[in-house]
Amino acid sequence: MGIETSCDETAVAVYRHGPGIIGEAVYTQLDHARYGGVVPELASRDHVRKLAPMIRQVLDQAGIGPEALDVVAYTAGPGLAGALLVGASVAEAYAAAIDRPAVGVHHMEGHLLSPLLEDDPPEFPFVALLVSGGHTMLVEVAEPGKYRLLGETLDDAAGEAFDKTARLLGLSYPGGPEVAKLAERGDSDRFSFPRPMTDRPGLDFSFSGLKTHTRLLIERESDDEATRADIAAGFERAVVETLAIKCKRALKETRLDRLVVAGGVSANRRLRAALDGALPGQVYYPPPALCTDNGAMIALAGWFRRGSATRTGHIGVRPRWPLDELPSLSNPKAA
Ligand code: KG4
Ligand code: ZN
Repeated sequence: MGIETSCDETAVAVYRHGPGIIGEAVYTQLDHARYGGVVPELASRDHVRKLAPMIRQVLDQAGIGPEALDVVAYTAGPGLAGALLVGASVAEAYAAAIDRPAVGVHHMEGHLLSPLLEDDPPEFPFVALLVSGGHTMLVEVAEPGKYRLLGETLDDAAGEAFDKTARLLGLSYPGGPEVAKLAERGDSDRFSFPRPMTDRPGLDFSFSGLKTHTRLLIERESDDEATRADIAAGFERAVVETLAIKCKRALKETRLDRLVVAGGVSANRRLRAALDGALPGQVYYPPPALCTDNGAMIALAGWFRRGSATRTGHIGVRPRWPLDELPSLSNPKAA
């Protein structure tokens, strides 16, 4: 069983090797919208309310009792400390109660492995672009457990840049879909936007300068609807082209031709169009339910990491947990 509580999704799933996911539920918290972003304290409280009933619901859906579980996995990081602690406490307590070991897994490893849950999974190795509200990273995935961070954002995540721009444009949260909708009516050529960090080598990202550029533009230009649409379109295109340039560069540097794109921003239609047109090899997009935070990917990562599960009952989370600090899997092929 996998439990995810790192941010504003409460999610539980059961993975069985062979059939795959046999039960799952995701609850997306809605209270954050009126604050324009995730409020950590509200997130923790909601996880407390939702998690226990969801575990029962998912086991019912899977048609199994707790005794059928081998390992209880939970997201131990990275994420919001209080939110992670809810998942860790419930998972460790549940595991102790059913006399099974528990294992804390890395949220990004979950995202990286999630394409394996698809009917037509990509073969290893591949490059993964993870773009969500909390992360923007390019990772070389040689095999399960073997990851090399190629680049990441030095400041805001791509989704965060969409959310902040949406707020400046007076749109609601989450801002990505709203900005994309407004951009449909806009002219992306009217204003020029920077393509941050594309003129120098490397695979890191930075979106805070683009955000400031957008803010100044909004303040300077008159606030009619057509202008706001033009700004949304120019901003979206700048983010999309920046991501596409870096993906192309990452594939070239690693000499790989498969790209997996996951995270909420991968739903963006212009991003998909830009990637499909610009890259030599195949681009894989997991289905939307696996792109955003879910319990299935945590259950799967827990299955791969079951060798590290313990019965210590120790509750430890790592709100900041660099992906390269993950130990490799002793035998990924057999896993
Ligand atoms: O993966 P996700 O659901 O949650 C985490 O952050 O983990 O990603 C949410 C992010 C938000 O910042 C949202 O604005 C962005 O994904 N997003 C989009 C689109 N749909 C969601 N950004 C751009 N275009 C979209 N169509
Ligand atoms: Zn995530």
